[in-house]
Amino acid sequence: MTLTEMPTRDAVRQALRTVVDPELHQNIVDLGMVRSVEYPSAREVSVTVSLTTPGCPIRSHFQQAVDHTVGALPGVERVHVDFDVLSEREKDELKQRVGRTDGLPDGALAAVKNVICVGSGKGGVGKSTTTANLTAALFAEGKRAAALDADVWGYSIPRMLGVHGKPKVSANKRILPLVVHGGVKAMSIEFFLEGRDQAVVWRGPMLHKAIRQFLEDVEWGELDYLLIDLPPGTGDVSMTLAQLLPQSRFVIVTTPQPAAQQVAKRAAETARRFDLEIVGVIENMSGFVAPTGERYTIFGEGGGQTLSDELDVPLLGKIPLQEELRIAADNGTPLVLEDPDAPASQALFHAARGLIATTPQQLAVLQPPARPDIAPPSGVSLPMAP
Ligand SMILES: Nc1ncnc2c1ncn2[C@@H]1O[C@H](COP(=O)(O)OP(=O)(O)OP(=O)(O)O)[C@@H](O)[C@H]1O
Ligand SMILES: [Mg+2]
Repeated sequence: MTLTEMPTRDAVRQALRTVVDPELHQNIVDLGMVRSVEYPSAREVSVTVSLTTPGCPIRSHFQQAVDHTVGALPGVERVHVDFDVLSEREKDELKQRVGRTDGLPDGALAAVKNVICVGSGKGGVGKSTTTANLTAALFAEGKRAAALDADVWGYSIPRMLGVHGKPKVSANKRILPLVVHGGVKAMSIEFFLEGRDQAVVWRGPMLHKAIRQFLEDVEWGELDYLLIDLPPGTGDVSMTLAQLLPQSRFVIVTTPQPAAQQVAKRAAETARRFDLEIVGVIENMSGFVAPTGERYTIFGEGGGQTLSDELDVPLLGKIPLQEELRIAADNGTPLVLEDPDAPASQALFHAARGLIATTPQQLAVLQPPARPDIAPPSGVSLPMAP
């Protein structure tokens, strides 16, 4: 029996044309980012990928994509992926290849340490409440935090954070997020609508474009956490986010009953199918404590624990049903800020600390160059769907 021959360097490079840089939208071979292809041992291929910055946030995306692509070639049993950094001259060449004269896209998210999507399968389980309060809790814990409302149909972050108005534009045409409660940043489609209750009827491609603009054209600045409030049912938006932000992570919100937990599990599976890491589960509406001290498990019990066991991720918190949480959200001050000692607030702070403990606190990329931010007081409009 003869062993399958190893693929040639050309064949490996050919295969690597399927690995696309998510920011530059071209394959890494044509971009000149494949430094070398070596054969350290009989069945092993070693690929060195050159990045634009040493701590490129899409590094793990390349790691997985190269490993997967080369590992699938006949004859290859092991793949080793190494990284180095392009020289200044190579970066200039790369800029020319991409046809950009304005420099590499430093990415509006270049100074964001963690992007956390808050999702669930089912609607109405408290994603937006969780996003608004978690963002505020992270801020109260001393982290720079922002909430992005990716629910363009059912936007609720502005109301829950009590932030309304028209964003300003920076000198370099970036949209500035609105800021509330002494430093919590927020962005929502609501800020671009004429009437606050105007309905948004976008479908797939427009939705993709809007989300993309929120990520690329908004001047988020330096952030420890950007939390993204997903719409119910994570299909379209998850896919868009996975393409644009392969480094984003997921927190799954579920209620305690088994039915909700099953649906949440499907959302988690979607996230995993796109290689997005799930950092934890938050159980919401877990029990109601009556003024008498008696606890009622209105939505059942155990769903969060079961889901986190199944996904093998931590249960970050169990938020009880508390009317004040709803009232505070309706009035625009997250309960965690209004009454940090309330039972629901404590559970949310617990979740925030858990999140801090399980996510990187170091910036994985170099800071983008400082830009002048002279903001003309005009409103800006995202291109709207007809
Ligand atoms: N633990 C809780 N205690 C009391 N009320 C809550 C709690 N969690 C959420 N709510 C209330 O339940 C309603 C639904 O919550 P929320 O809007 O956060 O859910 P959602 O998952 O974002 O919904 P959608 O799927 O429509 O986006 C809101 O009025 C909110 O204030
Ligand atoms: Mg919501």
